[in-house]
Amino acid sequence: MSEAMSDRFKIEWRCFDTREQMVDELTEACCEALMRGIRKRGTASWAVSGGSTPQPLFEAMSGVELDWENIQIALVDERWVDRDHPRSNEAFVRRSLAKGQAAEAMFIGMKTPEDSPFEAIVSVNERYAQVKQPFDSVLLGLGADGHTASFFPDAEGLEAALDLSNDKICVPLRAQKSEITGDELDRMSLSAAAISKAPHVVLMITGAEKKAVLERALETDHHLPIARLAENVAITVYWAP
Ligand code: 6PG
Repeated sequence: MSEAMSDRFKIEWRCFDTREQMVDELTEACCEALMRGIRKRGTASWAVSGGSTPQPLFEAMSGVELDWENIQIALVDERWVDRDHPRSNEAFVRRSLAKGQAAEAMFIGMKTPEDSPFEAIVSVNERYAQVKQPFDSVLLGLGADGHTASFFPDAEGLEAALDLSNDKICVPLRAQKSEITGDELDRMSLSAAAISKAPHVVLMITGAEKKAVLERALETDHHLPIARLAENVAITVYWAP
């Protein structure tokens, strides 16, 4: 990447030879960020993404002895489906992270009974008002379409979601249907503003395809949501083949 590109985007790459090495380093970095939060303010908050990539990190973190009783785990984003739905991020995070040592943590999900995230926005933001802000650490993922969190290209609600002056922690979006969204077009997401205040923001990606998507976003496709976020938010990328 050219100097100009790396100046424009606040991205720092950490590339590893294996996924195991990446997970070890990332486990350490997340633990440090959470412990720093506890030392400063007595409690820490960690916002985590769903998808599938973070599973080995969650498994590793769930076995770490931390002061979990003083850690809040909240979602970065959610597909607007019930908790028993196979595509629920909440179910995935509860299954892979909120167990073992980490079972003591407080878990805060996004899905409420309202039919759509647009109707639910007040109740979700009330729920997230219990979560310590700013987050001590935010874990993002990346989709092959350049989305991160639920900032899908051309989604309804995208501009408000990316607006750094938005004072809402959570924002509703409706994605355009694609292979990547599946049928779950309605989403709730942290706002870019809430993410931008966190001192530790990580993008965890694996494989050549995701790396190529990120490089393309930073080099030419600056309209992609991940590039738009990285213009304003310092992100450390953890990548392994
Ligand atoms: C979601 C996720 C999303 C995810 C990416 C990557 O609900 O879709 O939270 O933002 O991080 O889509 O997903 P994979 O890890 O499954 O590739």
